[in-house]
Amino acid sequence: MLVSAKDMLEKARDGKYAVGHFNINNLEWAKAILLTAQEMNSPVILGVSEGAGKYMGGFKTITGMVNGLIEGLGITVPVALHLDHGTFEGCMKCIEAGFSSIMFDGSHYPIAENIEKTTELVKICKEKGMSLEAEVGAIGGEEDGVVGMGECADPNECKAIADLGVTMLAAGIGNIHGKYPANWPGLSFETLAAVKEQIGDMPLVLHGGTGIPSDMIQKAISLGVAKINVNTECQLAFAAATRKYIEEGKDLEGKGFDPRKLLAPGTEAIKDIVREKITLFGSEGKA
Ligand code: 13P
Repeated sequence: MLVSAKDMLEKARDGKYAVGHFNINNLEWAKAILLTAQEMNSPVILGVSEGAGKYMGGFKTITGMVNGLIEGLGITVPVALHLDHGTFEGCMKCIEAGFSSIMFDGSHYPIAENIEKTTELVKICKEKGMSLEAEVGAIGGEEDGVVGMGECADPNECKAIADLGVTMLAAGIGNIHGKYPANWPGLSFETLAAVKEQIGDMPLVLHGGTGIPSDMIQKAISLGVAKINVNTECQLAFAAATRKYIEEGKDLEGKGFDPRKLLAPGTEAIKDIVREKITLFGSEGKA
């Protein structure tokens, strides 16, 4: 059964570790992440962007697939199925489709509009026992064609959104999606501490988990980050493993093209990344 991310993140915050949010794009990714979380006895969050939702044939396909995998693979660790960077309409669709968690990315709206829309979603999520993530300060890089600037969030705006009763808050602290440029100055721990000061105990979310040095990840966790999002690293590993398999001509062996064999090395590569992140984030054995 899918669960809200609330309990797992509050436990992570109190225990000074973080739960990994890994984006899924298809059956293989979902299966690889679920099996690895189970193997390591770790809670896990499956993230779905609106683009990935469209690709997989709609959000209901995804709830059907993930619920089926949880049952069929005997997954017993807590699993939250979470909309990543949702629009207001996307949030409504995921609520309807049976997701257990959503992110409303209102960071591009004027703060008053962000507050209005978030307030409405807080009410619905409370009624349904779902967790709700809000974003303040656009996270840079590209996410489904939307390019942010890698801002640092205004701590007062963070407080205004946190006070609405969201479950967790993604505050921009200089993090960006995708690979970090060579001249990236690093995370702004000053901003993180100022945000924490304003919002108190609310679990914080760190987007753009790919390419952040381990010491910065650990420092962020020590300052209240309880959820860390990873996507690009899985994509790169999946693509590299699949390319290698094809270049070695293995896809042509035996009976010819076999999609299960073709996708197996990429699936194993994702498992390796998830194992590495669960270890780094400290959530192993915390299910
Ligand atoms: P990366 O693609 O940089 O790992 O970021 C993932 C993310 O933040 C998804 O919301």
